[in-house]
Amino acid sequence: MTDPLAELSLLEQEAIATIEQANDANSLEAARINYLGQKSGKIKEAQKLLGKLPPEQKPLFGKRFNEVKTRVEQLLEEKQGRLTKPLTAVNAIDVTLPGASYKIGNKHPITQTMDAFRDIAGRLGFSVVDGPEVEDDLHNFVALNIPEVHPARDPLDNFYLSTAQTISTEARLLRSQTSTVQIRVMESTKPPIRIVSLGRVYRPDEIDATHYCMFHQMEGLYIDTDVSMAHLKTTLRLFATSYLGDDVQIRFRPSFFPFTEPSVEVDMSWRGKWMEVGGAGMVDPNVLKAVGYDPEQVSGFAFGFGVERFCMRRFGITDIRRLYENNIRFLNQFPS
Ligand code: PHE
Repeated sequence: MTDPLAELSLLEQEAIATIEQANDANSLEAARINYLGQKSGKIKEAQKLLGKLPPEQKPLFGKRFNEVKTRVEQLLEEKQGRLTKPLTAVNAIDVTLPGASYKIGNKHPITQTMDAFRDIAGRLGFSVVDGPEVEDDLHNFVALNIPEVHPARDPLDNFYLSTAQTISTEARLLRSQTSTVQIRVMESTKPPIRIVSLGRVYRPDEIDATHYCMFHQMEGLYIDTDVSMAHLKTTLRLFATSYLGDDVQIRFRPSFFPFTEPSVEVDMSWRGKWMEVGGAGMVDPNVLKAVGYDPEQVSGFAFGFGVERFCMRRFGITDIRRLYENNIRFLNQFPS
């Protein structure tokens, strides 16, 4: 039998060399298991030699055994400390590591549609403006040529904020259309004007697959000299085809709005049928006068598109209510 003490020393050297060579956490752990592992670690095994020794040799072997075990444990600990030492400033950022990706959700399909419309508007030379959702009588009705007796003011068709003030010059209401923004822009700006405004409007409509009590509109206003209906039709076609593709068909039907003359209603083709998507027309001279413009000098067109309808066609959504249920499994189908 070889000399147990020599065997112990050999094991010690082997362990030291292995620990030195380990240069990552995995190989160090492998070394630890190999030498100090509870089940079949080599040092644990070496302890068995003790039992085979004659009694007088036992104390010396026991002492050496403890030395070797302690040394190997210390070396392992030291090395582990060095391998997991905090990164110094120089290599604190490992640019080769893949970045951590955070799930921050999707943009809502309506937001996506409005973003796209703003983008298209910008390319057509329209700038984007905002307006308040709580409006007064002047901007929601009077300046838009909607007289005091007009049915559009009916409390059943509007969200007035106070019943006491319904249909009075003091009335405040959740705006029923974004055409209010036309007035605000014209009041504060001189022509030429080329703006769009996107936002929420509120109507106590009966809720069904295509109607909701709140929806979004994109208002457009173009005021300059010699603006014609041809400009209007071309602009609306461009909006629709830029967002939905060249195969979408747009149809104009004669209609009536108090603030445009002539007026049209705009339909688009969807699933073999026509769907109304908005109203438009040439700004009525009365409206131009109300904001201090001279109808002999300038003319313009205005339009209001329903954002939901475009969004639904684009994403193949057949029920407007789905857009407002906040069902994450529905919304996740439209990654932005
Ligand atoms: N404001 C109208 C509506 O909500 C649409 C419209 C806007 C019509 C601009 C003409 C001009 O129905």
